[in-house]
Amino acid sequence: MDEPAFQTYGEPLAEVYDQWFTAHDPATVEVLAELARGGRVLEMGIGTGLVALPLAAKGVEVHGIDNSEPMVAKLRAKPGGEAIPVTMGSFAEVVIPGEFSLVFVLFNTLFALLTQDEQVRCFQNAARHLSADGVFVVEVFVPEVGSWRGGQDVRALTVTGDRIGLKVSKHDPLEQKIRSQHVVVRNGEIRMYPVEVRYAWPAELDLMAEIAGLRLRHRFGNWARESFQATSEKHVSVYERRP
Ligand SMILES: C[S@@+](CC[C@H](N)C(=O)[O-])C[C@H]1O[C@@H](n2cnc3c(N)ncnc32)[C@H](O)[C@@H]1O
Repeated sequence: MDEPAFQTYGEPLAEVYDQWFTAHDPATVEVLAELARGGRVLEMGIGTGLVALPLAAKGVEVHGIDNSEPMVAKLRAKPGGEAIPVTMGSFAEVVIPGEFSLVFVLFNTLFALLTQDEQVRCFQNAARHLSADGVFVVEVFVPEVGSWRGGQDVRALTVTGDRIGLKVSKHDPLEQKIRSQHVVVRNGEIRMYPVEVRYAWPAELDLMAEIAGLRLRHRFGNWARESFQATSEKHVSVYERRP
């Protein structure tokens, strides 16, 4: 029997996305608005607009790309959500007319592209959209699979009187992929939310940037712009055009 498709951003995740991920660092919007310097911005993987809407509310002209109808339907249902132009398709490929002073892909969304080739094409697509002094911002986790035993990991995310939330993951070191299921058990009912990523370490991302004609300007360990450390769990990397 065929295995069902491992689709991350379908209806089930769109339903719960804003409840699970409200905790974006508020400094995110401040930093992005500053980097935009009054110009147009493009969010790759705009989703439900958790970052795009507050950025637009600050007067920034925000455009988006996404390939999930259910996620974008959530954006459209929010105040101001209809006013943001969103182009449907893959952010590794879609071309939008005009230049942008800032292109950004947040919250590990770059890793939703499941091959190295697609991730390189994402950098190239970002570069294609940047103005001469524009910047491309990438926020992703630092892989920490080395501590996993037997290529697997199980974490208890929630344990309450009526609910268990687990994250169950398998690692494929050859493909640099992690397949996870968020498993929620509640009132005797079990629901599963699949997520698949192809991760890359910072050095690999910097080479992708080089291929795309970009170079690293800054790498921070968080949105407070603290320096990136060996212990950092994620990074916010700012790329600019190579002269
Ligand atoms: C983790 S969510 C991020 C949503 C939003 N940016 C945020 O920070 O809350 C990732 C989004 O990227 C979209 N996405 C994933 N792969 C994509 C692709 N190849 N092309 C376009 N959108 C994609 C998903 O549909 C989803 O809406």
